[in-house]
Amino acid sequence: MPLVTTTEMFKKAYNGGYAVGAFNVNNMEIVQGITEAAGELNSPVILQVSKGARAYANHTYLVKLVEAAVAENPQIPIALHLDHGDSFELCKSCIDGGFTSVMIDASSKSFEDNIALTKQVVEYAHAHGVVVEAELGTLAGIEDEVCVEAGNEAYTRPEEVEEFVARTGCDSLAIAIGTSHGAYKFTAAQCTRNEEGILVPPPLRFDVLEEIVKKLPGFPIVLHGSSSVPQEFVKMVNAYGGNMPDAVGIPESQLREAAKLAVCKINIDSDIRLAMTGNIRKYFAENPSHFDPRQYLKPARQAVKEMVAHKIVNVLGSDNKI
Ligand code: G3H
Ligand code: 13P
Ligand code: ZN
Repeated sequence: MPLVTTTEMFKKAYNGGYAVGAFNVNNMEIVQGITEAAGELNSPVILQVSKGARAYANHTYLVKLVEAAVAENPQIPIALHLDHGDSFELCKSCIDGGFTSVMIDASSKSFEDNIALTKQVVEYAHAHGVVVEAELGTLAGIEDEVCVEAGNEAYTRPEEVEEFVARTGCDSLAIAIGTSHGAYKFTAAQCTRNEEGILVPPPLRFDVLEEIVKKLPGFPIVLHGSSSVPQEFVKMVNAYGGNMPDAVGIPESQLREAAKLAVCKINIDSDIRLAMTGNIRKYFAENPSHFDPRQYLKPARQAVKEMVAHKIVNVLGSDNKI
């Protein structure tokens, strides 16, 4: 099937009590790793491209790589989404350039300015058959070029969501309930430590999510910053020359619970980066004379595939849902 929007995916996910994974793509190996896993598990998948990814790899290369993945996996629904679009012009360029979904992230603006910009994108997108994700509330961490310090994040206010969705016409809403971008999601001061000395982050605000769901029954909710930063890969990075102290993510069990509720899209990027980096470091340490990129990118690509397969089965619950 050709690239799809997320409309049908989200309807099925909402009713089926699972979420669709949205994975950031920057190069061929990442696209292949993700879509091979989704294809083998018969799972819908969202491939998302950030402004930075577009600057790195070029719009056309990324679209063509995704088109190749669609051709190789014709049985699964694949959507191509702009992650954290920060302007009307960027969203328009992706809509005109073959994306089936865009995010306009005006969450750092005032409520009224967020509505105005989101509405402008929605009008253009809908006129072109493209769906729009918007955001209310701010996450801590690094979103492309925007960096929000831990402690300055703001949970989404449930009393604002109805008006926001009604006035913008957006198709899904990213909310802030305690997730955060990057591999260092929380400071040590925000966490407790378990017996192994690993940081345990504060739990997600399911009470806020439940309030939002009451206000927007049936409406697809999105969680950004949902990498779990598996300690297995942090250890691998650190064992082979890296230095990532106190990297910590969102426990997978909490994301699985969110996926059973109205959360239909879960964004994961850092875990893929971590799996690739750990494996590349390991490869070089074990094979110091090798210099062929195909040699060290092969285990990295396989690690992406295994990571995504694990997420599909154990976190998202989206396997065999096509
Ligand atoms: O939330 C942002 C994504 O992880 C994309 O990151 O801007 O480094 O491509 P990036
Ligand atoms: P992570 O940094 O937790 O992977 O979040 C990715 C994300 O939200 C992309 O928009
Ligand atoms: Zn994000």
